[in-house]
Amino acid sequence: MGEPGRVGNFGRAGVRWHAAAGSLAALSGLQYREMRVRPYEQRDRSEVRRICHETGFMGEPVDWLWRDRESFADAFSGYWTDREPESALVVETGDEDGEGPARRVVGYLLGCVDTKKVPSIVRVLWPHVIHRGLLIRGGTAPVLWRSMADIAGDIVRERKLPMEDLLDERWPSHLHIDLLPEARGRGLGSQLVERYLDYLRGVGSAGCHLETIFENRNAVAFFKANGFQLHGDPRPSPGWRSRSGERLHIQVMVRSL
Ligand SMILES: CC(C)(COP(=O)(O)OP(=O)(O)OC[C@H]1O[C@@H](n2cnc3c(N)ncnc32)[C@H](O)[C@@H]1OP(=O)(O)O)[C@@H](O)C(=O)NCCC(=O)NCCS
Repeated sequence: MGEPGRVGNFGRAGVRWHAAAGSLAALSGLQYREMRVRPYEQRDRSEVRRICHETGFMGEPVDWLWRDRESFADAFSGYWTDREPESALVVETGDEDGEGPARRVVGYLLGCVDTKKVPSIVRVLWPHVIHRGLLIRGGTAPVLWRSMADIAGDIVRERKLPMEDLLDERWPSHLHIDLLPEARGRGLGSQLVERYLDYLRGVGSAGCHLETIFENRNAVAFFKANGFQLHGDPRPSPGWRSRSGERLHIQVMVRSL
């Protein structure tokens, strides 16, 4: 990923966090823990997949809705780590040399320059349906059958599905971003986005879009703070429900470069 890759090359947000964390550590006597952004490496793959599942429901663990980590991680991180690793960044904490706490990945941004290259979720999940029995396993079957029923119902009602209209040449690129709770609220998410958008400018992308759950108000506020705008209305999400059973909605957000 060229320049965005330099370890320790903190932007404005990182500097702000360093100052805040330093004073907090001084006040509380806790050990100062640095967090840094760097390019994704192959050794990060299993940690990224774990975080993907642990933050998969609006930042909370998704296991109550989708228990099978392998298929979930394949659907929401597989293409990005395996086919386009040069567009990914991670947040890391800890030491390599073993003197302090061990090195750990605590968040990531997974990017894609050209959304047309990403295989559909049906194509990614199909082998898991066959080989891992997703349609009959308790941890995945309810959401999958409900998804099919929702899609059929939405087609009958002539509602637009969330996956329509995502291929727009004004915003050909996209991103996924997830931080573990310990890494949130410190400017690291903004730093990841800034560095990724710089990278996209460098490769000549016209713009970036993303999908988020509309009910994830924190994420919508975060993306607005980082220059993204709502694009279209929120659309009912196939299969996904809140813990209290209400249907959730997908919101597309865009930013031109
Ligand atoms: C959403 C997420 C990526 C934001 O990253 P972050 O490092 O916590 O956010 P930042 O500290 O860079 O915040 C930047 C700005 O975004 C807005 N923002 C961030 N978190 C917010 C929250 N919980 N509520 C309201 N605004 C928020 C604020 O304007 C903030 O600026 P400020 O600190 O000056 O007030 C991170 O919290 C996260 O991973 N959450 C869980 C997973 C998730 O929801 N991912 C997105 C799915 S599409």
